[in-house]
Amino acid sequence: MLRIQEHPILGSTEERRLVTFTLDGRELTGYEGEPIAAALKAAGVMVHRYTAKQHKPRGIFCAIGRCTDCVMIVDGTPNVRTCITPLREGMRVQTQYGVSAQPYQEIRRCNKNGEI
Ligand code: FES
Repeated sequence: MLRIQEHPILGSTEERRLVTFTLDGRELTGYEGEPIAAALKAAGVMVHRYTAKQHKPRGIFCAIGRCTDCVMIVDGTPNVRTCITPLREGMRVQTQYGVSAQPYQEIRRCNKNGEI
């Protein structure tokens, strides 16, 4: 996991409960109560959604619940701001394509590096 364990001003992080959740069917872990986006970032996930018109990737931008770049489908509900939504055990998180969990045709043809 990519996390800051010790900070010169904030000190060390306190012990938290590790929980399991899924991203597009892939099992990941994060700390209970932390923002979903923080758990995804720690797992190396940068893309949360693709825009509806131009199908451009988006991820964390403001990180304070103002911009909607981090929205994803969480437990079947689209447009959930993952930067301000606490992680819970068993959450089912999906990448959002427009307002759907169904990938766009041209994105399906991309390899894992985003090349068509
Ligand atoms: S990153 Fe802006 S609302 Fe979440």
